[in-house]
Amino acid sequence: MRVLNDNVRKLFPLINGKDIAYLDNGATTQKPKSVLAAVDDYYKAHNANPLRGIYELSVEATDIYENARQAVADFIGAQSSDEIIFTRNTSESMNLVAYSYGRSRIKAGDEIIVSVAEHHSNILPWKMIAEEKGATLKFFDCGTDGKLEPDRLREIVSEKTAIIAITQVSNVIGRINDIKEMARIAHSVGAVIVADGAQSVAHIQVDVKELDVDFFAFSGHKMYAPMGIGVLYGKRKFLEEMPPFMYGGEMIESVTKDRTIYADIPHKFEAGTVNAGAAAGLKAAIDFIHEYGFEQIVARENALSAIAVEGMSEIPHVEIIGSQKACHHHGIVAFRVEGVHPHDVAQIFADEGVCVRAGHHCAEPLHRHLAELSGIKATPSTRLSIAMYNTEGEIKRFLEVLSEIRGRMGIK
Ligand code: ALA
Repeated sequence: MRVLNDNVRKLFPLINGKDIAYLDNGATTQKPKSVLAAVDDYYKAHNANPLRGIYELSVEATDIYENARQAVADFIGAQSSDEIIFTRNTSESMNLVAYSYGRSRIKAGDEIIVSVAEHHSNILPWKMIAEEKGATLKFFDCGTDGKLEPDRLREIVSEKTAIIAITQVSNVIGRINDIKEMARIAHSVGAVIVADGAQSVAHIQVDVKELDVDFFAFSGHKMYAPMGIGVLYGKRKFLEEMPPFMYGGEMIESVTKDRTIYADIPHKFEAGTVNAGAAAGLKAAIDFIHEYGFEQIVARENALSAIAVEGMSEIPHVEIIGSQKACHHHGIVAFRVEGVHPHDVAQIFADEGVCVRAGHHCAEPLHRHLAELSGIKATPSTRLSIAMYNTEGEIKRFLEVLSEIRGRMGIK
């Protein structure tokens, strides 16, 4: 096990020695050398179309791709690598569940429940299916502290509930949701639970068997891997019965003019040439995370979150969205500066080499809901999001700029 300290930064070429504070990790993370090397090695030494050829290069490409699938299965505690489907990203994973499971199972009168804290990628596919099938989309609300109370979910589920879709960690307020209890509630009424792990897998240990989720989605690029590779975990019993999502090469066993026999899972869901180079990068990212271990990662990120939240609480006219307690933020803190539009806030940060995101962060319902609860009109926010390579120095730099923002805008 490697010791996790500021030296980890040296392994990330884009930020090593550079005068930027990269605090937009909820949007995407930087990539360590080992991930870049794995992608480079794939294309320099092993590239061929995986799963197709019987010549050596194609076999190597296939092995690299399938080893990555096994690494993902082990990483999230799946029973078997057959339950791991590679997609492009979390959005595609959610669309796969909605188009395949949703379209074949949802009927008029059913209910789909999503939390108000979802990223749009875990709302819009369900909205589409609900509209298409004559089902109802219900929102499961949180209070001002952003907590999604399982008891509230218990009150709104019924025999009509077919799907519950919830994020494990909010990309705006950083709260960890009790997915295990929510899975229990879903199963008690015969519904399936779909969890969004986009903001959790790089930051906390995930075990899909322990959570007992039916589907679990995440993106590689938010966990130090390349863009263009995402994951959908699904329980075998569902995946085997679900129809394909996309049709084309490699997802079939046999095609004649009259009939098609689909390939077994997981290939049934992976039409067309796959992204083996990015899969190689994803395996390297998993290895990288394992080199340090979640105990150190969680401790470091939570310590940095605490410095950020405590420092922000002391700056007048800064409002943290959601819980005011550092321990609820898990590396993600969205905030508003009174009297200054979040885009101006982010621009001032950008001018100082601090990278943060401004807007609704693809979670407009949550912003609107929390603004309404607080009786305020302004809905967007600015967000800082932390990764394992961030340092106390970057957080201090962030706090220093934050304390000057109103002054720079000419507000006393
Ligand atoms: N989902 C990403 C974010 O929260 C893009 O920023």
